[in-house]
Amino acid sequence: MARTLIEINRSSNQPLYRQVRRVIEHGIAVGVFDARRRLPSSRELAAELKVSRNTINLAYQELLTEGLVLSHERRGIFVNPDMAAAAEADVQTTRSMIDWSSRMRRYADEGVPEVQKTADWHKYPYPFVAGQIDVQSFPATAWIRSLREALYQPHRFASLQDCVGADDPMLIDMIRRQILPARGIEAGPDEILITIGSQQGLDLLARTLLGPHQRVAIENPGYLDARHIFRRTGAQVYGIDVDKDGLCLPPALSGTALLYVTPSHHHPTNVTLSMERRHRLLNLATASGTVVIEDDYDSEFRYEGSPSPALKALDSTGDVLYLGTFSKFLSPGLRLGFLVGPPELIRELKKVRRYQVRHPPGHLQRALALMIDSGDYHRALRRHRRQMKARWEMVSGFSTEYLPWDQEGYPPGGVSLWITGPPELDALELVRRVEQRGVLIERGDIYFIQPQAPRNCFRVGFGAIPSRSIGEGMALVGETARMLLAGSD
Ligand SMILES: Cc1ncc(COP(=O)(O)O)c(C=O)c1O
Repeated sequence: MARTLIEINRSSNQPLYRQVRRVIEHGIAVGVFDARRRLPSSRELAAELKVSRNTINLAYQELLTEGLVLSHERRGIFVNPDMAAAAEADVQTTRSMIDWSSRMRRYADEGVPEVQKTADWHKYPYPFVAGQIDVQSFPATAWIRSLREALYQPHRFASLQDCVGADDPMLIDMIRRQILPARGIEAGPDEILITIGSQQGLDLLARTLLGPHQRVAIENPGYLDARHIFRRTGAQVYGIDVDKDGLCLPPALSGTALLYVTPSHHHPTNVTLSMERRHRLLNLATASGTVVIEDDYDSEFRYEGSPSPALKALDSTGDVLYLGTFSKFLSPGLRLGFLVGPPELIRELKKVRRYQVRHPPGHLQRALALMIDSGDYHRALRRHRRQMKARWEMVSGFSTEYLPWDQEGYPPGGVSLWITGPPELDALELVRRVEQRGVLIERGDIYFIQPQAPRNCFRVGFGAIPSRSIGEGMALVGETARMLLAGSD
């Protein structure tokens, strides 16, 4: 029980036991007591409140008589869960005197659609959700070992101290030496910022670099969260189409302050930006002074051929801003990522971050650094990549087998498939109907920026669904799509 919960007023006319009883009764009604845990004993409460045990016993006696609490032999006194629910209904609710909706700042992304994530996706038998992982494949043993080690010397201070605006130097070093080289990127310690996922990196960049009336280019279709973040600064966001070679570059980028791209595996279609276009994009950006943000969110998952070098690796100016994340491999729940950019900008971003969250949790940073240093991270990543490749082969094979239209083949990377049906397919209805059969897939229309978006696309994530369920799940999608196209219910 919170120490301050009961305040005894010794000058009140109300007997002490009544005061105690009233406060416990109120506590039950507002739900401060957990029905699974015993209430404080009369001895404990008497000592805490400096009253006699008799006073407390009298209060409890009344509550027992009314059935608000129950006495379990040798275990103590517990809240009666049935009465607690009834008492809750009787609690007088507070009446706000402030018109909150008029006091809250309005952001300019109102009207931009949001990806609707199903909260209990893991309870569905066929969760083809994107952006989640199969929690069974998380390297829990290695992670626990690293978390534990991070609490002992010589790591304790790095884990537990207030770092104010700074990052863990060991994690910065691991990213420089063990993560970035695989992407062809060389960076000094002062060119890296640890983030609470790419999302925070994008938000920091948008706050720092954008303002109302600036123009921002994004891919169309493209990452919705980026569209939200840029719109929230008041900037004007426009889309550039994407084909099988990635972004269809315009002749010039003049007047565009910032360009956001996902070159390794375009979100959401997974196509890879061709080398020729990468070079052209960098030249165009340099000519117009456009800042390029490269979101390399799932480059680890390349299943055929060798990965293309990051844009950042091809950039001779050092100006490309690179976002990396540990959300796809390890877990989106850990909220860890990083940003690479010029030192002057990184210094400013640290300052902005300091007044938001100070720094990402030191314990998590040091644990991740230790996991990378021990080799566990890369061992788990190799294992996970093999599993993801097997899933990609299954999901693309089954979709070719079961879907009632010809597929052109899928880009060999990423953690989801982007599927385009015949023009008459209503993918929104397909999503609704398969959900009734236990299958979660995601509608594709919301990723397009134009109001009249194509309705025949959908997304099938394969990072979270158990492998054994992929075939059955895709068979259900195929059967439902066939019925829908045939016009039957
Ligand atoms: C395009 C894109 N970027 C980045 C991320 C990862 O974001 P975060 O690192 O904030 O978890 C995702 C996850 O779904 C994504 O789809």
